[in-house]
Amino acid sequence: MTSQQTATDQSAGLIFDPASPLGTAFRIDTSSVWAEATDPEKITRVSIGTLIAMEGQLPSEYLVGMLDRVTRDSELADMFEDGETEEPVPLTRVDRDLFRVVLLGTYRTVDGQRKNTFKRGADSYPRIDAKCWSIVGSNLQTLMSLLSSEVDEEKRLYLGSFVADASAKAVADGDRLFQRHAALVGSTGSGKSWAVALILERAAALQYPNLVVLDMHGEYSPLAQPSESGKSLARGWRVAGPSDLSENGGVLFLPYWMLNQEELLALLLDRSEDNAPNQAARFTEHIRSLKRKTLELAEKAQALDNFTVDSPIPFSLSELVDLLEFDDTEMVPGSTARPVGGPFKGKLTRFISRLKTKMKDRRYSFMFQAPDTTSHYEWLHGLAKDMLGTTRGIKVVDFSEVPSDALPVVVGVFARVLYDIQFWSAPEQRTPFTVVCDEAHLYLPSDNVTARDQRALDSFERIAKEGRKYGVSLLIVSQRPSDVSKTVLSQCNNFIVLRLTNDQDRRVIERVMPDNLTGLTASLPLLDVGEAIVIGDSIVLPTRIRLDPPMIKPDSATRKFWSEWNSRPSEPETLSSAVESMRRQSRV
Ligand SMILES: Nc1ncnc2c1ncn2[C@@H]1O[C@H](COP(=O)(O)OP(=O)(O)OP(=O)(O)O)[C@@H](O)[C@H]1O
Ligand SMILES: [Mg+2]
Repeated sequence: MTSQQTATDQSAGLIFDPASPLGTAFRIDTSSVWAEATDPEKITRVSIGTLIAMEGQLPSEYLVGMLDRVTRDSELADMFEDGETEEPVPLTRVDRDLFRVVLLGTYRTVDGQRKNTFKRGADSYPRIDAKCWSIVGSNLQTLMSLLSSEVDEEKRLYLGSFVADASAKAVADGDRLFQRHAALVGSTGSGKSWAVALILERAAALQYPNLVVLDMHGEYSPLAQPSESGKSLARGWRVAGPSDLSENGGVLFLPYWMLNQEELLALLLDRSEDNAPNQAARFTEHIRSLKRKTLELAEKAQALDNFTVDSPIPFSLSELVDLLEFDDTEMVPGSTARPVGGPFKGKLTRFISRLKTKMKDRRYSFMFQAPDTTSHYEWLHGLAKDMLGTTRGIKVVDFSEVPSDALPVVVGVFARVLYDIQFWSAPEQRTPFTVVCDEAHLYLPSDNVTARDQRALDSFERIAKEGRKYGVSLLIVSQRPSDVSKTVLSQCNNFIVLRLTNDQDRRVIERVMPDNLTGLTASLPLLDVGEAIVIGDSIVLPTRIRLDPPMIKPDSATRKFWSEWNSRPSEPETLSSAVESMRRQSRV
């Protein structure tokens, strides 16, 4: 028996007064129970969302649920036949106060060797006439501390406190939260970024955390800044903007050769063109031969035997253009003495020009104008160590300067490469890692998916479906869950839901919830900033939690419009430099 179980044993159990219940059960469904209030006074003092305990099958067992509906039912009684009218005339009206409880868990005063235990799910059903009580006061405190002690100490992720009882800590099972993907959703300003920072902070206290944050607004850079003690919570990178020329200072390039054939073609090929099949074929053929050349030069005999066109092996873009131009202009001997155009003559012209345009496009410089250091064979080893190493296990990658049309491709390639590296690691040597997908609706859209977006979606959907087995999971963060790929969301086992006002978004959450909890969605618009309901197997009871504020705040402060309009003038100079930054497409 662990020390924590002993502690539970010693704590007092829940105590209910059999003489004054809140009500008695009269209708029992698979997931909810209807009860009739015994005292009309008492039921008016109980609010929706209150926890209710109900007698179970055994004297030691109580089913715990949440009050989710109260109605008053009037019945006409004491009929009197006056002989004149056909219908009997009622003499009195009886009001019955009825309420519904959704069952969530089972509390036992004695469970084998243990005392006072709580588990998720109703193990049995109450009997008709079972008594029930609201769980308030000291009973509530007891139950809440019981909930925390049900999570093993080494798995505990402290999220905050319960709204129902601020003295009790809300604890999630950290293993379960990350094991099978989680989603963190809430309207803008509801506290998602703070919640992410809180989770990262908690993870940073572990020995070897491994999380990669895809930071879309550069909000999490304060986490990578050294504190007074000289240490930082995370390591920060920034995907190169058009003015970055080298990898110095945490600038990250994602060279074109990391893209697989499909990703490259999605970026460069116009499938509506007649010559598209020829273009794709030549392109693929040349990339294969150029990758072979790299391997031969590097004397990688093993890789030479097994590489494919999709293998991330550096090759030279200018040589690729030369090969394609040769095809496009080649003349071959004809049947007469005069040479005639080769098999691809003129068929690749438009493809080459599209490729050259992309190569020159400053917005894609992180991919096509990466410095020479990125074309070294060993460069990818360095990236793998930087991103998946656990020396400083929380990695924040700032994508804020990546143009929005390129974002899905870049993010998709990045996540896929990390996943592939994990996939190919020896199973016993893998450290599990989580990709935190901030603003997921931007690159994991649910509708109007273009061929390019589809590649990114494919990468993430693959992680969502298969990642668990290889120790890769996603934490999807979004203010518009209804705009996020259904495939990805439906794979999430845990939802941290903050205030959610939009109807469509709430319906999405409702769809992924277990049936008996759908009533909870009604309370989502009413949550305060920083309040959340956690649904899933990581938490024992889905009740309101007030999340702790993180120590290091993300750079996401809500601006005080009215006060600032009264206190801060704008600087004309900063506006000029903003215009220049816009022209350069870079803030630095
Ligand atoms: N747990 C919390 N406790 C107290 N205040 C909070 C908490 N979480 C958030 N806030 C307040 O709400 C503000 C907005 O929070 P945050 O930036 O996390 O919102 P968000 O959901 O990420 O919004 P967006 O979708 O626009 O990115 C914070 O600046 C902070 O003032
Ligand atoms: Mg945010």
